[in-house]
Amino acid sequence: MTPTDFLRAKAGGGKLSMATCYDYTFARLLAKSPVDAILVGDSAAMVMHGHETTLTATISMMETHVAAVARGAGKKLIVADMPFLTYRKGVPAAMEAAHALMSAGAHALKLEGVAGHEDVIERIVGSGIPVMGHVGMQPQSVKAYGGFKPQGREESGASEIARHAKTLETLGVFSVVIECVPAPLAEQITRALTIPTIGIGAGPGCDGQILVLQDLLGMNSNFRPRFARAFCNAETAILEALTVFDTAVKSSVFPTAEESYS
Ligand code: KIV
Repeated sequence: MTPTDFLRAKAGGGKLSMATCYDYTFARLLAKSPVDAILVGDSAAMVMHGHETTLTATISMMETHVAAVARGAGKKLIVADMPFLTYRKGVPAAMEAAHALMSAGAHALKLEGVAGHEDVIERIVGSGIPVMGHVGMQPQSVKAYGGFKPQGREESGASEIARHAKTLETLGVFSVVIECVPAPLAEQITRALTIPTIGIGAGPGCDGQILVLQDLLGMNSNFRPRFARAFCNAETAILEALTVFDTAVKSSVFPTAEESYS
C-alpha cells in the first residue's frame, strides 16, 4: 500500500486497516498480515515506556521505534507520528524533525490538529512527504481537555472538527485519523472528504479503522475503552506460557537432553 493506494481505496469504496507498531518483532508479524499499513504512534510513550500520556514522546524515542519497525515491516507503509510540539516551533524545526523520522525509515508522517501549523503541513507535503492528519480527540492536547475525553459532542466542537478535516484535505494530506468522536460526525466528515478517514473510537462510518496493536491483541486487561475490541486474548496466552515455562524449569522438565548441546 502507498498513499496513492489509500486514495484509490476510498474511490473504490474499500475499507482500510491499520495497526500501531513500535518494534521489530511485531513489525515482522504485521508484514506477514493483510493489515494495510503501520502507524508508529507516539502512543509508544504509553504502550512501550509506561508513561501516562504521549507528551513525553521525543524525536529520538520515535526514531528508535521507527528504525526498529522499518527493519521488520517489509513493504508495509510506515506512518510515523511527529511528537508533541515538534511541529509547533516553526517550519525549520518541524522540517528537522520530519527529516529525522523519514531518515529513520518512515514513509509518511502524522501530525495532530491543523490550526496554527498549516504552514508546517504545507511545507512537509510540498517537500514530497505524505502526511496523515489527525482530528477529533488529539491525545497531545490531553492537558487542555483535562483528560482523554471524546470530542465533538456539542455542535460548535463538531463543526470545528469537520472544518479542520476539510482544511487538512485542502492542504494535501492523503488521509485523516478521526479519534473518539460521535459516529454520525465521523460519517458526515467521511462523506464530505475525498481522502480516506481512518477511525479510532469514531464508529463504522469511516473509510478505515486503526487500533493500538496491544489493544487489538488483548494484551492489557486493565485498559479497555469501548472501541478497543480485543481480537484475541494474548495476555492470557502469554501468562499461561510463562506459567508453564516456570513450572517446567522448577520441576526440571526443561530443558531436556534434546534441548541441550552434547
Ligand atoms: O499514537 C497513536 O497510537 C495514534 C492512534 C491512536 C491513532 O495516534
